[in-house]
Amino acid sequence: MSLSLIGKSIVESGTLKLNERAAILRAKGEPLIHLGGGEPQSRSPLEAVTRFTGKLNSGEIRYTPVDGTVEMKQAIIRYTEEYYNRRVDPENVIASNGAKQSIMVAFQAILDPQDEVVFPAPYWVSYPEMAKLCGAVPVPVYPEDGSFRPTMKDITQHVSSYTKAIILNSPNNPTGVVYSEDFIRDIVRFCEEEDLYLILDDLYHRLVFDGIKVPNVFDYVSELNENSKIILANGVSKQYAMTGFRIGWAVANKKLIQVMSNIQGHQTAGPSILLQEAAIGAMNGVQTGVESLRLTLQNNRNVMLDQLAAFDGVKATKPEGTFYVFVDFNAYDKNSSRLSEFLLDKVKVLTMPGKEFGLDGYLRLSTCGSIKGILEGIERIKWALDPNSPNELYIGERKLVRDWL
Ligand SMILES: Cc1ncc(COP(=O)(O)O)c(C=O)c1O
Repeated sequence: MSLSLIGKSIVESGTLKLNERAAILRAKGEPLIHLGGGEPQSRSPLEAVTRFTGKLNSGEIRYTPVDGTVEMKQAIIRYTEEYYNRRVDPENVIASNGAKQSIMVAFQAILDPQDEVVFPAPYWVSYPEMAKLCGAVPVPVYPEDGSFRPTMKDITQHVSSYTKAIILNSPNNPTGVVYSEDFIRDIVRFCEEEDLYLILDDLYHRLVFDGIKVPNVFDYVSELNENSKIILANGVSKQYAMTGFRIGWAVANKKLIQVMSNIQGHQTAGPSILLQEAAIGAMNGVQTGVESLRLTLQNNRNVMLDQLAAFDGVKATKPEGTFYVFVDFNAYDKNSSRLSEFLLDKVKVLTMPGKEFGLDGYLRLSTCGSIKGILEGIERIKWALDPNSPNELYIGERKLVRDWL
């Protein structure tokens, strides 16, 4: 079969693939514990559901403008003013089918083949493939000190004459790290000096813990005008537990938004009117759900960290946000895909291999589920890996007998 070079170069999303496997195992009645999930389990906000059903009941479900309805754009503008203290015009925003599409059309609008996109590692699984979809070259930056916080030196060492953009995700998926004000200030300055695009993937910016504040990129921009090369991406998926609604957006200069809209117009056209209505409902409605989700996630993180602290050989960096803990399992297996497969097979615990995020030897454990799930999940992992644990483990009625180690 003849396939395109780009088509052949793109690897399947490992995280989505594992989620599909989990769904199949669950459907078969397996006692699965899902520590792989990237979606909160809370219900969608009531206002989202009400607006969605109201529109559905109207029976008039039509195309929308490519870059979003007037009301959707107003909701994004209001959001940007409230959370970023930045007043923008409707021509500065685009609504897409998830932040994923906003980032993708931004890449397509700015990247030429051979251009380089720089981002800290470990990274969100899609950045390298998205760059490759444009014929561009992903350049992951591994902090020299072995931490999850790159220094400016780490970043600048990877910037070349081919670099077109830097993309940052803070709080970060998979590490939960929030980049410091100093780092954001320096990187904004650097991008301005070098005339580089700076993309901020802010999907988790309200899901932060311990009073930590995510620096607002617009506080550090020297001149806020239509030449700005800052692209801010966000969405409803994580903060409002609305992953299935597929609405995200980007804020950028008007010319760039126009080009992104042109591209989106030929890809998918405007996002579904029903889903935009739901997103508007969530964004303009009461926000208590976001705070209660944040508190739940903070508590779940604490429980997860406590369990891991009592787990010999594993090391976890305390996440400052998101719903992931990125755990070093090198002492048990340096091959994270094999380890993840082993845990799914033997004790029915789904974890995400660090390799998918560019760092082998680690597993990404999600705190999205219940406390019970976290406790039992870690207990099962411990049982599977610790050679001193008893020979048998009961999962409900089912007896597991160790036939390894
Ligand atoms: C860092 C990051 N950016 C973007 C996305 C995509 O979000 P959306 O559901 O809005 O497409 C995700 C989803 O997992 C993510 O973790």
